[in-house]
Amino acid sequence: MKTEIIRIRELDETAVLQLEKAAEVIKNGGLVVFPTETVYGLGGDATNEDSSKKIYAAKGRPSDNPLIIHIDTPEMAEKYAHTNEVYYKLAKSFMPGPLTVILESKDTIPLATRAGLSTVAVRCPQSAIARELIKRAGVPIAAPSANLSGSPSPTTAEHVIDDMQGRVDIIIDGGSSDFGLESTIVKIDNENEITLLRPGKITKEDLSKLVSRVNVADAVTDKLKDGEVVLSPGMKYKHYAPKAPVILLDGDVKAAVDYIDKNGDINIAIISYDKDFEHFKKAFPKAFIYNFGSSERPEDGAHVLFSILRDTDKHSFKEIYAPLPKASGIGLALYNRMIRAAAHKIIRL
Ligand code: TXA
Ligand code: MG
Repeated sequence: MKTEIIRIRELDETAVLQLEKAAEVIKNGGLVVFPTETVYGLGGDATNEDSSKKIYAAKGRPSDNPLIIHIDTPEMAEKYAHTNEVYYKLAKSFMPGPLTVILESKDTIPLATRAGLSTVAVRCPQSAIARELIKRAGVPIAAPSANLSGSPSPTTAEHVIDDMQGRVDIIIDGGSSDFGLESTIVKIDNENEITLLRPGKITKEDLSKLVSRVNVADAVTDKLKDGEVVLSPGMKYKHYAPKAPVILLDGDVKAAVDYIDKNGDINIAIISYDKDFEHFKKAFPKAFIYNFGSSERPEDGAHVLFSILRDTDKHSFKEIYAPLPKASGIGLALYNRMIRAAAHKIIRL
């Protein structure tokens, strides 16, 4: 298949015409990769079973892992899912934005899109390009992250091209994703209680302002026990793991240097906070060091993590050392992705 690449930086007249064309492709059962504020999505008509099957095939994704449907206004959910008061409370504070809500599905969403579940995941993205595309398509757009199954989610058009060239009709290049980690996913338990299934930019602390209790699913921070049933099917897959083993070091830079000195190979990568960069550089002049930004601003790490993980695969490092982020606020999202990348290998220094 020939893939057309369309570059859009602002929603001017030309861009809108291009989005109209991309929307036609979606309506006719084709696949379009589009940018969102979190990561790029691999989109098809969520109401068309064949489109959803094509999405699974293009990603090489197991068909028991359901897709998120993207809508351009919170009210658009009415036709596709059973909404409730808590949904609208969440929508009022966080939509459009990086939040996905699990609701009971209506029959308008085929089982293939939701992997046979009775529920459907609903998200209204902040990205103006994404919303214009959905509006013009006139149907919700089913979209998982636009990576091949098992690799990190794409946060630039280059990542998408690496994974999806020849597998989709159109790739919309909207530049680098603002946030860089996937949306927060919640399930509504009752009118006072929700459960966080996947942490993201909308934090547990943000959500706690709206309902009296926010539970956190075990899979967010813990290793799954053998055979454990997960609330969000995606949580059971090994995600984001680069070729070289990732080792998370929980301690200060001096302790980290000692540890790497005793245990590390020569050919290693170190993911380092800004403040520790020079220290690592001096201790390991042969190591490849990636800058992870400020240790006080997990947004910095969130923005570059997936790019770094993808880049490590272009080298042949023996090990990748990285700091263990604080598991609170936005840090929880970073922590969740990094313990997966490291297959839970954490060294307490
Ligand atoms: O930021 C995002 O959410 C991006 C952009 C493209 O919107 N999308 C994304 O999709 O990350 P994906 O498919 O890579 O991850 C969706 C996660 C999966 O772990 C899946 O198991 C879960 O959402 N999910 C989807 N439908 C669900 C449902 N009905 N119940 C529970 N979990 C669900
Ligand atoms: Mg994904």
